[in-house]
Amino acid sequence: MEIRKIGIIMNGVTGRMGTNQHLIRSILAIIKQGGVKVNDDMVLMPEPILTGRNANKLKPLATEVAKREIGRELAYTTDLDTALGDSNNQIFFDASGTLQRAGFIEKAVKAGKAIYCEKPTATETKEALRLAELVEKAGLKNGVVQDKLWLPSFRKIAMLKDLGFFGKILSVRGEFGYWVFTGIDRDQPAQRPSWNYRAEDGGGIMIDMFCHWQYVISNLFGPIKSLVAYGNTDIPERRDESGKIYKATADDSAYAIFVLEDGTVCQFNSSWCVRVRRDDLLTVEVNGTKGTAVAGLREVFVQSAAETPKPVWNPDIPQPINFYEGWQKVPNNIPYDNAFKIQWEEFLRHVALDEPFRYTLREGAKGVQLAELGMQSWKEKRWVDVPAL
Ligand SMILES: NC(=O)c1ccc[n+]([C@@H]2O[C@H](COP(=O)([O-])OP(=O)(O)OC[C@H]3O[C@@H](n4cnc5c(N)ncnc54)[C@H](O)[C@@H]3O)[C@@H](O)[C@H]2O)c1
Repeated sequence: MEIRKIGIIMNGVTGRMGTNQHLIRSILAIIKQGGVKVNDDMVLMPEPILTGRNANKLKPLATEVAKREIGRELAYTTDLDTALGDSNNQIFFDASGTLQRAGFIEKAVKAGKAIYCEKPTATETKEALRLAELVEKAGLKNGVVQDKLWLPSFRKIAMLKDLGFFGKILSVRGEFGYWVFTGIDRDQPAQRPSWNYRAEDGGGIMIDMFCHWQYVISNLFGPIKSLVAYGNTDIPERRDESGKIYKATADDSAYAIFVLEDGTVCQFNSSWCVRVRRDDLLTVEVNGTKGTAVAGLREVFVQSAAETPKPVWNPDIPQPINFYEGWQKVPNNIPYDNAFKIQWEEFLRHVALDEPFRYTLREGAKGVQLAELGMQSWKEKRWVDVPAL
């Protein structure tokens, strides 16, 4: 059995996404399961080294957390340049802040590493494209996290579409969001980093979420032709990690209608200032001539044309129909692995075995473009078309 080691520099993994999704639930989970099995004779085995600015934050991850998850410690360093200089490290991965991304990618390109990173790759299309061109010109394998594509629910939507369940898809309605505490009220700490609410630090829900909506919509339903969007800062002040009150300069709610090239209308609401009374933190309702599906993060409920009730508008009597009945849960006929982990496995196979990988920095730039066009639509109060990148 050949165990092919793949050295991965994991940068910025002390953050929320880096620690939970990328280190623990992806890379350490892959090591724990015995690597990525290619065939009976070969396994790909990630060998991470954690990098960052603060050794005191890296050390517990590389020691306690790694020991708990895989029974041994990992390497870590604050000296990124030396890690980049080590030819055993084939991949550079970045989950640091959005505004830090470009500088790190430039360094990793110079070092000739395969590059994988969180979204958004930048806050401006021009910059996101520049980074894509940089890696392309250097001939480096590259990828951007597009995790939502591997959510169990969206895989089920893709299956339903393949099965012809929907007939013609007419509209898609996405409702994303939950209450993010301001940190100002007693015993109600904020559960997201404060930079998310400061535009000058790369924050804002439009730049955050439209990247996701871009690849979700274009992969599941088709290319986006035009959009109209509106954003707002619902909550003007929040409290940061150090306990200081700061001014929220970024949008914390965003509303958009995306019209696809085939005419399908996709409407997405995104907000960190809403309370949830729906199936999940993100629900996507897909309405077709022959049936409708409502997807949460994992589960999908369907109602076919034949099961559709006939409501009558009459507020003078209690509603006779329980609208939550008459839906079928799509069964979990396969085990669904963590979405980030599945994409990591695909990227490792791409790097080691040259297998195709569609989710490149250029694809990631399309997400940044959609967010930037959303902001343009909002500021100029008009519809905008989405030009090809
Ligand atoms: N795929 C998704 O669903 C998803 C969800 C949330 C965030 N993100 C993206 O992931 C990235 C990180 O977001 P987060 O919520 O984890 O933020 P975070 O603030 O929790 O983490 C950022 C990490 O980067 C580190 N960092 C910052 N500057 C650095 C530098 N110069 N050198 C090394 N490390 C540095 C910070 O110390 C921190 O550990 C962002 O780009 C964000 O847009 C993606």
